[in-house]
Amino acid sequence: MFMANSKIIIAIDGYSSTGKSSFAKLVAEGLGYIYADSGALYRAVTYFAYTNGFIDDNGVVEKIGLQKVLHKIEIFFKTSGPDGRSMTYLNGSCIEKQIRTSRISGLVSRIAEIPFVREYVDEILRKMGSDKGLVMDGRDIGTAVFPNAELKIFMTASPEVRARRRFDELKLKGAKDTYDEVLAALKKRDDIDEHRVKDPLTKAKDAIVLDNSCMTMGEEIDWLNAILKPNFNLQII
Ligand code: CDP
Repeated sequence: MFMANSKIIIAIDGYSSTGKSSFAKLVAEGLGYIYADSGALYRAVTYFAYTNGFIDDNGVVEKIGLQKVLHKIEIFFKTSGPDGRSMTYLNGSCIEKQIRTSRISGLVSRIAEIPFVREYVDEILRKMGSDKGLVMDGRDIGTAVFPNAELKIFMTASPEVRARRRFDELKLKGAKDTYDEVLAALKKRDDIDEHRVKDPLTKAKDAIVLDNSCMTMGEEIDWLNAILKPNFNLQII
């Protein structure tokens, strides 16, 4: 039985470039909750592995070596910068920009499919949920990390719409990737994420689907409010 004014965990899973993180950030802000980007942790491990020679440009991973050092590294989020944005840190250095490159996007699924990496990341993620009041986005939050989350949302949109969004985002950052390259990379990443053995990308049975192919962010928030108010007595203003 849900108690009015109790804090909840909102798990937002779904495909690459569905706008999960922008949506999750807004929801967390509107509810006064903490936002956690689980993908950033997989990206941080990938960045560490790449810069230390544990994964090559073809995605071949030196697993034994990586497993030996993984527990010695420290990854955490810290709000910094003028707008108080949450940034990803690796061993004390901010790596927020470095983990968003196409190179890291192209390798991350190879790192994220390794069971010991998932266990390492899950431990960090579960600690963040101990006090509830959390909005977390990813691929397996509602299925594996917080299977008891009070609200689960599964976000999707057509591959072409998602590739267009990612392409526009990369262009703004000055990247040279073509639309076709972005679309192919996105489909490849979805395929690896959906078919890995441990905790693949899949909709939790009790997740509510949000297809935002033709929705604005304002419409997405209205959609969510229609669920939050009657079920949890919560409202994003
Ligand atoms: O680029 P986008 O925001 O769509 O992805 P992300 O959330 O930054 O996640 C990057 C990658 O991390 C995904 O493609 C997955 O391979 C992996 N990931 C995962 O396996 N499980 C999660 N809970 C979150 C991310």
